[in-house]
Amino acid sequence: MSINAFLFDLDGVIVDTAIYHYQAWKRLANELGFDISEEFNEGLKGVSRMDSLDLILAHGGLTLPDERKTELATQKNEWYLELVSRMTSNDILPGVPAFFAQVRQAGLKTALGSVSKNAPMILARIGMTDAFDAIIDGNKISKGKPDPEVFTKGAEELGLSAAECVVFEDAVAGVEAGKRAGMFVVGIGTPDVLTKADMVAPSLEALTVEEILKQASA
Ligand code: G6P
Ligand code: MG
Repeated sequence: MSINAFLFDLDGVIVDTAIYHYQAWKRLANELGFDISEEFNEGLKGVSRMDSLDLILAHGGLTLPDERKTELATQKNEWYLELVSRMTSNDILPGVPAFFAQVRQAGLKTALGSVSKNAPMILARIGMTDAFDAIIDGNKISKGKPDPEVFTKGAEELGLSAAECVVFEDAVAGVEAGKRAGMFVVGIGTPDVLTKADMVAPSLEALTVEEILKQASA
């Protein structure tokens, strides 16, 4: 079966919003009287807002009622929105526009696979809404990564099978989601962190479509 589509995570692959999620969560943890490290944050990447909050509260040894948790998640999202409100197309990660040009040249379809409810707003801010044939975001799914739903739905919306899709992911949970969906996964980051990826590169800038198609069909 040949590869006919590339499915992209948003945060940390297309744009560096991962740092803003981290800053907003860190601020929340600090207000609650504890801290989160960058290493702990690796485990939050690709994880939904409420699941992230649960992990953070457990890390701080706190158990809170649902109502309070909703308030805290809303507070974090407000801080996050403040941080991303000044983003523009200048915040697109290096190599992304050139890579998307290659993807189009190769006649491949594209989908976004992000569990972020803010994904459509971020895409609009950076002017990349039209770069995707299908957009699956946190508003369209019921299970966050590492559940494969976000990528399975992406393939479905494109009318393709899992074997025809390649996933690009910077998160441990996202790589697992892609593998569980039955797809070839390109990890964006380092091999010591993204151990389950089929291949790993530091960024899209370091990759060519030709090389990925070769590896994915090998
Ligand atoms: C992405 C990020 C996570 C974030 C999640 C939900 O997957 O990697 O860090 O928690 O989206 O984002 P949201 O914008 O809906 O809070
Ligand atoms: Mg990500």
